[in-house]
Amino acid sequence: MTSGGDAAGMNPAIKCTVDYSRMLGYKPYLVHNGLRGLIDDNIEEAKSSDVSGILHRGGTILRSSRSKRFFEYEHRQQAYENLQKHGISKLIVIGGDGSFRALNQFYSDFKVPFAGIPATIDNDIPGTDYCLGVDTALNMIRQNVDSIRDTASSFSRAFVIETMGRHCGYLAMASAVTSGAEVCLVPELEYDLEAIQKRLQKDIDNGRQFLIAIVAEGCQMGDYLTRWIKDKLKMDARLTILGHIQRGGSPTVRDRLMAFKFGIAAVDSLHRGETNKIMVYKSGSYSTVPIHELAGQTAGIDPVLVEICKPLCR
Ligand code: F6P
Repeated sequence: MTSGGDAAGMNPAIKCTVDYSRMLGYKPYLVHNGLRGLIDDNIEEAKSSDVSGILHRGGTILRSSRSKRFFEYEHRQQAYENLQKHGISKLIVIGGDGSFRALNQFYSDFKVPFAGIPATIDNDIPGTDYCLGVDTALNMIRQNVDSIRDTASSFSRAFVIETMGRHCGYLAMASAVTSGAEVCLVPELEYDLEAIQKRLQKDIDNGRQFLIAIVAEGCQMGDYLTRWIKDKLKMDARLTILGHIQRGGSPTVRDRLMAFKFGIAAVDSLHRGETNKIMVYKSGSYSTVPIHELAGQTAGIDPVLVEICKPLCR
């Protein structure tokens, strides 16, 4: 099943887990509509044709949801009865940490083992450096920032570009660095607007005609910074909120490969008899982590990337 915000890479992960689990002798099923589908019995045995020709497609062919009903025991019990009816004894969930916590509660209630594959463009799941969908989202942002730079430079304007990421600034930081932005504001880093003003004014005095500022949605600074640029730097400025285009698009090669590595690891984890592990990629290695070890942790951002970004905050 896929659950929570959709992300590119979910489809290759679905394909891989179905094909590989069948190779090991299992009978795979598909849960449609995420946690909602678990409760409403949108469950069917997977046919090969369900997962052929899906590798290159963005989003999730299984569809996804964020279900409040799953917080209630009676609905989880309904979900359990549905699984029993189909003879399903193990689950693979492709999604974010909210979905993993929900499945862990389900495991405490009914002892249905699960394996979690991290997938969210926010890259905010503790314990892993990478979540499916991030590379595709970054490439989508890069392509859009490159286009915006064309008009910014032609019209001598400043553009403030807001990226998604919920409370996490990873997409904004990686995009600012790789798109050559002049400013980057993220929840994780302190910023100094006075210092930014001095730096940019000096650049403008030396001939700078346009500028790009990338702000993470978690800062809620898009509107303010756009007005601030007009006011303090006397440069015409526009705000572009990239929004949900960041969630779509055909998965990049990196996302497809990561989907296969996480997918095989998830099937192997359940095959070994593990009960509630999350697949992670940390410091260049793949492993599995029990979900309870991630409780209370927050996702850290690569310290090297943080250092590269700091000059863009002051
Ligand atoms: O978690 C993925 C994400 O795209 C976040 O970056 C964003 O804040 C949120 O989901 C948007 O949620 P929705 O699609 O419900 O508007």
